Amino acid sequence: MSSSFEEALEAVSESVQEELVRANTEQEVSQIRITYLGRKGKLTLLLRRLRELPPEEKSRAGELANALKAELERKIEGALVRFYEETKQKSLAQEGIDITLPGTPLPRGRLHPITQVTAQVVDIFTRMGFQVAEGPQVEFDYYNFEALNIPRDHPARDMHDTFYFSEEVLLRTHTSPVQIRVLENQRPPIQIIAPGVVYRRDSDISHTPMFHQVEGFMVDEGISFAHLKGVLTLFIQQMFGEGTCLRFRPSFFPFTEPSAEVDIGCVICGGEGCRVCGGTGWLEILGAGMVDPEVFRTVGYDPEEVTGFAFGMGIERIAMLKFGINDIRLFFTNDLRFLRQF
Ligand code: FA5
Ligand code: MG
Repeated sequence: MSSSFEEALEAVSESVQEELVRANTEQEVSQIRITYLGRKGKLTLLLRRLRELPPEEKSRAGELANALKAELERKIEGALVRFYEETKQKSLAQEGIDITLPGTPLPRGRLHPITQVTAQVVDIFTRMGFQVAEGPQVEFDYYNFEALNIPRDHPARDMHDTFYFSEEVLLRTHTSPVQIRVLENQRPPIQIIAPGVVYRRDSDISHTPMFHQVEGFMVDEGISFAHLKGVLTLFIQQMFGEGTCLRFRPSFFPFTEPSAEVDIGCVICGGEGCRVCGGTGWLEILGAGMVDPEVFRTVGYDPEEVTGFAFGMGIERIAMLKFGINDIRLFFTNDLRFLRQF
């Protein structure tokens, strides 16, 4: 009985090894495992027969059978791993990524011309020692008008064509309210540049309901109109070139006294007179003046002690002159044929 048991083990061992040699796929190896080591597998059935052996043979036969079982499990496992690795290598080779292939080019974006000009304006002024400040686009009537010496029934309100949310809340019509916010929170010396979006109910070839301004102001003891002129001259020449001339024209703003509008020599015709400058040779680019004493009193400053200048310019206006664009609406229709040129 014992020898026939051992022979049976021997036979199982041999046929498993043969089948493993012939197996070509992972599935075939798995099948071998089921055939021999599964619940009704050949070796499993042999192991069950151990019980029937006489006690003196049982232990040796048991040892042999268990050793064989362990050995076959190892071999089958080994074969499975080999096939698994092989398949993996094959698929890696097939699906391999060729990192030398050129990729799909992504269209490259660029900064909007208004963003570019704003950055350039801010850059010129920060190099002169100005610091950037910002204010909210949804603003209180107080900051946009009242504190800037424009009371409710003041005719200057008509110039602004305001979008109102309520009696007290509106879309700011200029960046000048940032003056008030900064004056409330800082003490002189103050030297601020404040770029931002503003809104007015305006729309034609040179006006859009949303546009950009940059406010600048400087407040300290002894600031004079000469400082304003010096700062603006430096700015204009860096923005439009050394030879650009400018002139101050008397004007009116409720929050500055005296007030001026600043023109530059037409960058299109060089001062000869053309359609863009209306034949005058000059183009208006900003409003400016000395901070009105009334504004200083409103924010608790003594106008006998400090003085200051302020100016505000339209960014679109500057961009149009710089790039020779004749319709302001082009900036906001997002036609790529236009935007790609910058
Ligand atoms: C003002 O807004 C004053 N806050 C400027 C100022 C600041 C004066 C500080 C004194 C001291 P004005 O309404 O003129 O001023 O507007 C200034 C500039 O904004 C104009 O020169 C123009 O370039 C631009 N601008 C005005 N309305 C529009 C519009 N609808 N679309 C595009 N640009 C505009
Ligand atoms: Mg104006």
